[in-house]
Amino acid sequence: MWRIPVPEIVHSIAAAGELGAGDVHLWLVDVSGQSPPLHTTADFLSAFELARAETLPTGKRDRYLRIRTVLRLLLAHYLRIPPRSIVIRNEPNGKPTLATRHHMDIRFNLSHTGGVVLLGFSRAGDIGVDAERRNRPADFPKIARRIFSDNEYACFEQLPDAQQRSFFYMVWTRKEALLKGIGRGLRVPMNAFEVTGPTPSPARFQSGMLRIPVHDEWYVGDAAFDSDYCCAYALPGLPADPRLFQRSEGELCSEWRHTHG
Ligand SMILES: CC(C)(COP(=O)(O)OP(=O)(O)OC[C@H]1O[C@@H](n2cnc3c(N)ncnc32)[C@H](O)[C@@H]1OP(=O)(O)O)[C@@H](O)C(=O)NCCC(=O)NCCS
Repeated sequence: MWRIPVPEIVHSIAAAGELGAGDVHLWLVDVSGQSPPLHTTADFLSAFELARAETLPTGKRDRYLRIRTVLRLLLAHYLRIPPRSIVIRNEPNGKPTLATRHHMDIRFNLSHTGGVVLLGFSRAGDIGVDAERRNRPADFPKIARRIFSDNEYACFEQLPDAQQRSFFYMVWTRKEALLKGIGRGLRVPMNAFEVTGPTPSPARFQSGMLRIPVHDEWYVGDAAFDSDYCCAYALPGLPADPRLFQRSEGELCSEWRHTHG
């Protein structure tokens, strides 16, 4: 029986435990705080990341450093190797992935919005995640008409105004999570598949419109972290039962320093 995942406030990264075969862990991490001291960041990140950070304007640089630090700390926990020794590559489509030399079937994906980053880690195959801050003003009916399927748009239209916004964000984040799971990003038309239904629900592809081969059945679901953010994940195969964790980047860094010196 499917259970709605409830976020756990973990008190150390170690409390998250291992990522066993078939496991899916989702982390919502606050990255809005102060950057860790530079020497600490340099201990965690690769030379490429540090060089890239130097090319960014100050605000974006701090956020980039914090996000990459969080990604590496969590990967280091699951892989049990130092954060800096992890080799992350981008696939030709831009999706970041672990280099095969790590000999682990861990897949990951991330999404940043506002002051948070949502990270998904899976040993149940590929994964895509998406997070959106809910309070952004937008012309929801106009965007929905463009990116929803006809069925989804009909559902959207029937809802009272007060419910349209949350339905919009649910469908939007599920669609982006799916596109990021299959690695295609927004080059694929978002109205070419449907993601509505009880959580988690299989995506239904309209053949011909997707223009890419998708052989696996993909499942999309929502992660009820924080009412300010709408979070979704997508996985191939059977629906998984993800565990949810919520921390801040500063807390993760200090826990790591405390444990690893
Ligand atoms: C991937 C994409 C959907 C991201 O959408 P977004 O809402 O702006 O951003 P999010 O915060 O949700 O996700 C960004 C993260 O997704 C990951 N990502 C990038 N490309 C990806 C892909 N093809 N598939 C899955 N994940 C991808 C990265 O980790 C990225 O963060 P990073 O750059 O800090 O490492 C969007 O950039 C896209 O469609 N890219 C495809 C390529 C494309 O169309 N490029 C247009 C310029 S030519």
